[in-house]
Amino acid sequence: MKIKLEQLKKEAQEQLDALLERAEQVPGEAAEKFQELETRFLGRKGELAALLKGLKEVSDDLRREYGELANQIKKELEEKFSAAAQKIKSSAAKNEAVDVTLPGVKKQRGSLHPLTLVENELEELFSSLGFMVLDGPEMESDYYNFEALNVAPHHPARDMQDTFYVDKKNAKGEYDLLMRTQTSPMQVRALKKYGAPLRAIIPGRCFRSEATDARHEHTFYQLEGIMIDKKINFSHMKGVLELVGQRLFGEDTKLRMRPKFYPFVEPGSNGEYSCFLCGGKGCRVCKYSGWLEIVGCGLVHPEVLRAAGLDPEEYCGFAFGFGLNRLAMLKYGINDIRLFNGGDIRFLEQF
Ligand code: DAH
Repeated sequence: MKIKLEQLKKEAQEQLDALLERAEQVPGEAAEKFQELETRFLGRKGELAALLKGLKEVSDDLRREYGELANQIKKELEEKFSAAAQKIKSSAAKNEAVDVTLPGVKKQRGSLHPLTLVENELEELFSSLGFMVLDGPEMESDYYNFEALNVAPHHPARDMQDTFYVDKKNAKGEYDLLMRTQTSPMQVRALKKYGAPLRAIIPGRCFRSEATDARHEHTFYQLEGIMIDKKINFSHMKGVLELVGQRLFGEDTKLRMRPKFYPFVEPGSNGEYSCFLCGGKGCRVCKYSGWLEIVGCGLVHPEVLRAAGLDPEEYCGFAFGFGLNRLAMLKYGINDIRLFNGGDIRFLEQF
C-alpha cells in the first residue's frame, strides 16, 4: 500500500512536470490535458480515491499510518496541481496578448445601390423645395393605373404599358389588379388623400411585360412628381425641372421642352437636358444630338384633377416622371439595365 501510494505520487508528479514543459511549447492543449490529469489522479473516481478504498481491508494500525500518508500525499498533490493550473493559465494569457503589429481583419461594409443613390439625391433636392416624399402600392387597380389617368379601357396608350395582371377578381367579378406600370397613379391617390395645394414626389418600383435586353427591363424604378395649386403654369414646371437637371448633371445643364403626348397631361412634354458628357456638342451617349431625353412632364389634365375630386377651374399644376434606371445609367456609365436587379456583387461593390 505504502509503495503504491509513493508510486502514485511519483507518477502524478512526473506527468505534471511533463505537461508543464509541453505547455510552454504548445499552450493551446495544456488546459485540456491538465483537466484530464487532475481527474485521473485526484478525481472522485481517480487513482488516489481507488487506493483509499483499499484501506478498509487493512488492519487498524496500518490503516491509520497509511491514512495519514495518503492524506499527506493528497494535500501535496493538490497544492502542486493548483500551482500548475496557475502557471498554465498565465502562459495562456501571455499567448493571447494582442499583437498590434499584425494586419487587421477588415470589416466588410455594404454600399448603397446606384438606384438608391440617385433616388436619395432627388429626394434631398425635392424635400428642400417643400415636396413630400410618398410611397405607393406596387400592385395597383386598373382604375388608378389607367382610367383615373385619362386612359380609357381600349386606349392605344395601353399598348406601350402591357404589364403583369393579378389573377384575382374584385367584388364586381372583374380582374382589375395589375402590377403598376408607372408611378403616375399616385398623382390621384395623393390628391385624394392630401387635397390641394400639394407638392409631392413618389419614387417607386414599376413593372412592364418587356422582353429584356440591355435597354429593357420588366422591373424598373420611376420617380413621379406633382405640384398642384392655384395659378401654377408651365414656367413653374420648367423652373423646377431646370433645377433638377443642374443638380443631377452640373450647373451648366440646360433644359429644353419638346411636345409629347401623355394622356394625363395637357400640354404634355418631354424634358431634355443638354448632354453632360459632351457639353451639348454631340456624342455617342446623346446619339450626336447634344440632348438627353430624361423626363416626361406636362400640366395635369383636367380629367385627372376631376378624378381626384378637384375643380379644374380652381386648381391646376404640373406633373413629371423620371426613369431612375436611366438616370443612374447615365450618371454612372452603366451600359446594361439588367445589372440593377442582377444581384451581382461585383457590380454593386463599385458604388
Ligand atoms: N408615367 C409616364 C411613363 O411612365 C411618365 C410621365 C410622363 C409622368 C408625363 C408624368 C408626366 O407625371 O406628366 O412613361
